[in-house]
Amino acid sequence: MVMSAIKETIAPHGGQLINRIATAAEKAEFMAQADSLPRVTLDRRATSDLVMIAIGGFSPLQGFMEQKDYENVVDNMRLVNGIPWSVPVTLSVSEEVADPLKEGSWVRLDDPNGKFIGILELTQKYHYSKAHEATHVYRTDEDKHPGVKVVYEQGPVNLAGPVWLLERDAHPLFPKYQIDPAESRASFIERGWSTVVGFQTRNPIHRAHEYIIKCALEIVDGLFLHPLVGATKSDDIPADVRMRCYEIMMENYFPQQRVILAINPSAMRYAGPREAIFHALIRKNYGCTHFIVGRDHAGVGDYYGTYDAQHIFDQFEPEELGITPLKFEHAFYCTRTEQMATSKTSPSKKEERIHLSGTKVREMLRRGELPPPQFSRPKVAAELARAMKISS
Ligand code: ADX
Repeated sequence: MVMSAIKETIAPHGGQLINRIATAAEKAEFMAQADSLPRVTLDRRATSDLVMIAIGGFSPLQGFMEQKDYENVVDNMRLVNGIPWSVPVTLSVSEEVADPLKEGSWVRLDDPNGKFIGILELTQKYHYSKAHEATHVYRTDEDKHPGVKVVYEQGPVNLAGPVWLLERDAHPLFPKYQIDPAESRASFIERGWSTVVGFQTRNPIHRAHEYIIKCALEIVDGLFLHPLVGATKSDDIPADVRMRCYEIMMENYFPQQRVILAINPSAMRYAGPREAIFHALIRKNYGCTHFIVGRDHAGVGDYYGTYDAQHIFDQFEPEELGITPLKFEHAFYCTRTEQMATSKTSPSKKEERIHLSGTKVREMLRRGELPPPQFSRPKVAAELARAMKISS
């Protein structure tokens, strides 16, 4: 395919790519006050949220949400200015932490190891209803839902206001794949890609993933393979193991010139449909024009219908989201045609369909079994086996 020269990528959400990384002068000013400022220690999710705000991954957000934005997002999936946004981005703390903090002052933000990483200009602190957030955002108030559990366990007060990240540190595990929105946008232009599909995943890559990715690659210029490496629930496969699986795919099964592998630092919410919108908007900020939404995107257990995460896109006008969802049916391995397929492309009967999912791969590995070749590429299965210490 001959790529035409392009000069710009799709506009970021809200029109402008946010940059909240402190300048040298700002950093010096913050450092000078480091010991005198009140401190809040961020958990893993809030730390990655701070980073995502700072690098523009959450554009147009400039900080943790104020009450009106928060309530409008929870109730109507929009910021107060009407821009679509589906998941709250909040800094929730205990009463003890919130009480001494004064609105209008600076708060020093430390990461979970106690390192000073950012500043919050506290404009507001407010209480919120956890049950209301759970039922609206997660569609359930059951605390066994991993996203709801996090909401119930976090503090009852949200601290809000603009933030600064002191500096952009290299990722400790995957520095080579740390490509921030400004950089991915520049890369797409450099490669002449005018259409780019983003792929979100939190699982080791399996053949259904590969199939839908490759169907998408048939119709766009490039793929932004963008696995999430922020906080996940404890039984998900660790990010370093997953990254090795993506590398194997890059080396062996993907056309390298048409794929960029990069990490998405944010945390999983498991909010299904709401998170599909959130995931799409994040990829728009990275410069993607298209986004893959397959079966039960960002789902967990049986909280969401198979295609709820696709239907939710119909609640918005295409131009207000500004990124096009590419919706795929449940993909399976068809034993009759000996290839991956969906019910749109396969004439097979139920018993001729081997259904694949990240959950099934995890269950097999836990039982000490290797996923079969219809399920995972053998080199990927071998890597998973090695990581999970299964002898093949
Ligand atoms: S997710 O939580 O990040 O959505 P996962 O990594 O399993 O989980 O999925 C990544 C993407 O692939 C999502 O868009 C999901 O809907 C899609 N997907 C996963 N398995 C299948 C499948 N068997 N058929 C179609 N789409 C799938």
